[in-house]
Amino acid sequence: MTQIPTSTLTVDIKNPVELVFMDIRISQTHLAVNVNIMSEIELINADCLPAMKEMQDKQFDLAIVDPPYGIGCAQTINIENLKKGFIHRELHVSKDWDNKRPSQEYFNELQRVSNSLIIWGGNYFTDFLYPVKGWLFWDKKDNKFQGSYFSDGELAWTNINTPVRYFRYGWIGVDYINNRNGEIKQHPTQKPVKLYEWLLKNYAKPGDTILDTHLGSGSIAIACYNMGYSLIGYEIDKDYYSAACKRLEEHKKQLRLFEPVGG
Ligand SMILES: C[S@@+](CC[C@H](N)C(=O)[O-])C[C@H]1O[C@@H](n2cnc3c(N)ncnc32)[C@H](O)[C@@H]1O
Repeated sequence: MTQIPTSTLTVDIKNPVELVFMDIRISQTHLAVNVNIMSEIELINADCLPAMKEMQDKQFDLAIVDPPYGIGCAQTINIENLKKGFIHRELHVSKDWDNKRPSQEYFNELQRVSNSLIIWGGNYFTDFLYPVKGWLFWDKKDNKFQGSYFSDGELAWTNINTPVRYFRYGWIGVDYINNRNGEIKQHPTQKPVKLYEWLLKNYAKPGDTILDTHLGSGSIAIACYNMGYSLIGYEIDKDYYSAACKRLEEHKKQLRLFEPVGG
C-alpha cells in the first residue's frame, strides 16, 4: 500500500458528524489520518455560582450538570452508611459537599445562562424546577443486580422537547470490583464517560458550547474532548479538580500514542 505522508492528511474537525464520516473513509482506504479535534476544554477550580453571575444570558447552548443531591453521598464513613452498605466509599476521602442541595438562585442562574439544560438528580430538585415532558433515565444496573438496596438508575430533568428516553449502561456505581467497563472511578459519584457521550450525541448540536457547573471527576470533559465539543467546567474542590485535570491530560496523552508516526 502506498504510504502517504500523514502531515498532508491532517484535518481539523469541529463537527462530530464529520468525525464519523472520516472514520468511514479511514476504514475504506486504510490511510493513516491525523485527526485534530477542535474542542476547547476549560476546567476551572471555583465555586460555580459567583462565576455564573458574571456570565451573559444564554452564553451556553447546553448545560449538562450534576449538582449535589443533598443526600450525604460523599460523607459516607459513618455507622449509618456502613449499615446501608456504602463500604465501597471508604476508598474515598470523606467530604461534606453532598450534604446540601444548591439554592433556587443556582437554578435560576442556570436557566439564564444556558438555552438547553440537562440536570442529573432532577428528582431531588423538583421544587426548584417546573414540569417537563422529557425526563432521561440512566439504567446503571444493566438488568443485573435489580431490586437491591441501591437505585436501579438515575433521573435527569431536561427542558429539551424530547420524549422520555433511557440509556442502559452497566456501571454498578456502588461496586468497584464489578465495573466491567473498565473505567477507573476516582470520585465517589463519578458518572461514566459513555453516559456523557450518549447525551452529547442525542442532545447537543454540532458546534455547541457546553457548561458543567459541577465537574467532579471530569467524565464530561473526556466525552467533550472525544466528540469535539467545547466545554467550560467548574469544580470547587481542589483535590477533585486536580484529579480531573490530570485525568483529562492522561486521556489526551493516551490518544496521542495512537497518532500515526510523522503525524
Ligand atoms: C455529583 S458530583 C459530580 C460528579 C460528576 N458528574 C462526575 O461524573 O464525576 C458534584 C461535584 O460538585 C462539586 N461542587 C459542589 N458545590 C460546588 C460549587 N458550588 N461549585 C462547583 N463545584 C461544586 C463537588 O465537589 C462534587 O465534586
